[in-house]
Amino acid sequence: MRSSVLAQCLMVTTSLAGRVLKRDSVTAVVNFSNNTGAPQHLASGLLYGVPDTLDQIPSKFYSEIGYNYERAGGAQIPAPGRGWIWGLTEYENRFASALSNYKTAREHGANFIFLIHDLWGADGSQNSSAPYPGDNGDWTSWDNYLTRLFSDIKSNSMTGGLIIDIWNEPDGSAFWNREQSQYLEMWGRTYYKFRAEFGTEVLLSGPASAGEPLATNTWWKAWASYVAGNDSIPDQYAWHMEGGGGDLLSAQAGLQHWLSTYDLPSKPININEYAIFSEQVPAGSAWWIAQLERINAHGLRGNWLSGYALHDFMASLVSKPDATSDYSATATGYFTNGDYQVYKYYYQNMTGYRVGTTPSTDLKLDAYATVGTDRYARVLVGVRIEEGTWELQLNDLTALGLPSSGTLNVHTWGFPVNSADTHYGEVDAPKDLGWYGHAYSGGTVTFPVYQVDTTTAYAFEFAI
Ligand SMILES: *[C@@H]1O[C@H](CO)[C@@H](O)[C@H](O)[C@H]1NC(C)=O
Ligand SMILES: *[C@@H]1O[C@H](CO)[C@@H](O)[C@H](O)[C@H]1NC(C)=O
Ligand SMILES: *[C@@H]1O[C@H](CO)[C@@H](O)[C@H](O)[C@H]1NC(C)=O
Ligand SMILES: *[C@@H]1O[C@H](CO)[C@@H](O)[C@H](O)[C@H]1NC(C)=O
Ligand SMILES: *[C@@H]1O[C@H](CO)[C@@H](O)[C@H](O)[C@H]1NC(C)=O
Repeated sequence: MRSSVLAQCLMVTTSLAGRVLKRDSVTAVVNFSNNTGAPQHLASGLLYGVPDTLDQIPSKFYSEIGYNYERAGGAQIPAPGRGWIWGLTEYENRFASALSNYKTAREHGANFIFLIHDLWGADGSQNSSAPYPGDNGDWTSWDNYLTRLFSDIKSNSMTGGLIIDIWNEPDGSAFWNREQSQYLEMWGRTYYKFRAEFGTEVLLSGPASAGEPLATNTWWKAWASYVAGNDSIPDQYAWHMEGGGGDLLSAQAGLQHWLSTYDLPSKPININEYAIFSEQVPAGSAWWIAQLERINAHGLRGNWLSGYALHDFMASLVSKPDATSDYSATATGYFTNGDYQVYKYYYQNMTGYRVGTTPSTDLKLDAYATVGTDRYARVLVGVRIEEGTWELQLNDLTALGLPSSGTLNVHTWGFPVNSADTHYGEVDAPKDLGWYGHAYSGGTVTFPVYQVDTTTAYAFEFAI
């Protein structure tokens, strides 16, 4: 229903005017009287992106962005490191990759989501005869795998900050090429085995589905019904936003539908893969940051690289010489890209307290805003990979102690990509675009956001 209303608005505005006309339907709004608490830079997590050699990427690159979540389990390590289904040596080599990434995460205080389906060997590259847990009703191999895994977690003191994703994207054949019923039984067994071994010291996460928990999603219906009946409710509800569409307010409403249908408790939400590759640019990242912060969900950047490059580049935030022309898994010389600068600003500059925002009704422009103890308010905006002109409205300026009318002097920063190479090109800082005075009244100001490319994000700052 919402989308048909939206479609009508878009048709009307498109036929009446070009993109430059100011129109309420495409205005993102910041409410400066709605304090939503301290920033925890919830979007600063990574799927893979960490080399298997400790300290290969210098520590400052992780700490400057407030890296706080890692998710890995040895995916795509070649023979002899293809995981449990290829034998014990291949398990051990894959485990070594996971353990190394765990150490990097913990060195920076990040939590670690262990992808045990990857350690098993179902990393998406498994062949069509690869076994799955519980094939033909036989759980022996999976039970032995878990016994070995528990022992390795303990002997390597890996329980701190550890979260287990019971299986990745079990709603798609790339990772679970079996019936959902077999998956659900695996879920129940695995959940209780982890709890019996570690209690709640090790958290459990799921279902990490490719699909959003929308009320129309029958796979989610079966999952929610099962975990309610089996009393195997994870500590984090996780799903992915990797289709290039959707938004988190509607996805959260969908989750709420299933929670109330099956009387399930609220738990933290973790979007443990977000953004498609084309969205991994400053505009897209700013958009995702705003979406995640609004619903208080943790988010981990998706990863669109393969092979050892999957275990490098911090999920496309850093680069190095010959990154694509002559890739070496162990080469160093790292530098930052344009997208990195958004996460650095988000972590280092957007401090103080957050305030509530709403995205434009076409869901293209979104905003994340903070009010700093340095007496500067900051609004980071991003358009979801489209050119045009949107509006940004800043409301309740009087809540910041500003007069209800006057001139608001706004300092603008641009966050570009390197035009020669979007993901691998070096960018060392945002661009100072200067100051502009906007006349305002009624405690509110509205000004345009000119999105003349599909990649640049903007930050607007003003003194209070
Ligand atoms: C802005 O936030 C305040 C405080 O939460 C709230 O009372 C007010 O209704 C909000 N304004 C709008 C337009 O939603
Ligand atoms: C398919 O993968 C399994 C391990 O999952 C392996 O034992 C088997 O040899 C592979 N088959 C082929 C044809 O490569
Ligand atoms: C949950 O499911 C697992 C796997 O089928 C089963 O072993 C366990 O007994 C079930 N627990 C409850 C409480 O239903
Ligand atoms: C962000 O904060 C740091 C540390 O205070 C400061 O050096 C830097 O100039 C700020 N960046 C911007 C874009 O304001
Ligand atoms: C304040 O902002 C949060 C986050 O965007 C939102 O959920 C809440 O409804 C807002 N409150 C008011 C009163 O507008």
